[in-house]
Amino acid sequence: MQQTVQEALCQTEAPEETDKFYQDVIEGLTSEFKRLPSKYFYDQQGDRIFQQIMACDQYYLTRCEAEILKNQREQICETIRDGDDSFEIIELGAGDGTKTVHLLDGLARRGKSFRYLPIDISGNILNELTDNLLAQNPELDIEPLEGEYFEMLDQAVSLSALHKVVMFLGSNIGNMPPEDALQFCTRIRQSIMPGDMVLIGFDLVKDPYTIRAAYSDEQGITNAFNLNLLKRINTELGADFNLNLFDHYCSYDPLTGACKSYLVSQRKHTVSFPSAQIHFNEGECIWMEISQKYSLSQISQMALNSGFEPISTFTDSKGWFADVVWKAV
Ligand SMILES: C[S@@+](CC[C@H](N)C(=O)[O-])C[C@H]1O[C@@H](n2cnc3c(N)ncnc32)[C@H](O)[C@@H]1O
Repeated sequence: MQQTVQEALCQTEAPEETDKFYQDVIEGLTSEFKRLPSKYFYDQQGDRIFQQIMACDQYYLTRCEAEILKNQREQICETIRDGDDSFEIIELGAGDGTKTVHLLDGLARRGKSFRYLPIDISGNILNELTDNLLAQNPELDIEPLEGEYFEMLDQAVSLSALHKVVMFLGSNIGNMPPEDALQFCTRIRQSIMPGDMVLIGFDLVKDPYTIRAAYSDEQGITNAFNLNLLKRINTELGADFNLNLFDHYCSYDPLTGACKSYLVSQRKHTVSFPSAQIHFNEGECIWMEISQKYSLSQISQMALNSGFEPISTFTDSKGWFADVVWKAV
């Protein structure tokens, strides 16, 4: 039965430094259907496991997008910046930037003058990204910004009046349901000026077996990625999740394009926090993440509905992934 936040909390006080994390976790675990926000996956260990996922054979997304950004970088560079003036590239959820580097290289080779502002909630991955990029190109003008997407986007935008290109790669946009993705794009639009551009990576609808395999690798890396969030909650919030009592499950619904990851409780048990108790039934799930898939027409519609004009669509040779360029109108 669903617990209310009040019932779950034995005391009213939450640990102070981790307040927001604590509140989000308790709110998620006491909601009608237990869930945890996927943005908390990315601590140092989570960053490392995500890099292993990206290197997995079944996880086609990274290879498809890398192919696009590598093989079509000339056309993409031409599209995102056709003038000669200086401009800024702001990347939301930049991660380790292994794919972005193709575009940055392409722009540098064309002699474009630009500044790169990667934004990420994980300071660890931002440091790795910055070190790697500067090792490859010590001349790169880079300003990493650690924090939440929009807090940092607004900060980045306020730094100069230069033309902006906002990038959101790796199907990060899929980590929210379509209605939230639309709001997210609308919010980006509100932060930038007419004529500014966005470059967004969308994973496309395709054979359901291929999609499901990408999120349920046999080596158990995705399982470890999900369990790592429970481990993080134990370490940072003093909970006592027994990781052996949860197992990863993934579903894909071809009708809605929603691929969802869950952790399933293997038996009835209770998890204790310093100031809360969360009860699990056998078979009860925690919804961990959505990875939404889109058709090309849904993507164009999202552009129009959020205040953009679709400019170009770049797809990989299999037609599995799309990087789209939209202009703010
Ligand atoms: C799925 S990874 C993709 C990384 C990269 N864009 C790529 O294509 O390889 C998501 C990245 O977004 C970051 N992230 C997730 N939620 C965030 C948020 N709310 N604000 C800022 N960064 C966030 C994570 O730390 C992680 O590095």
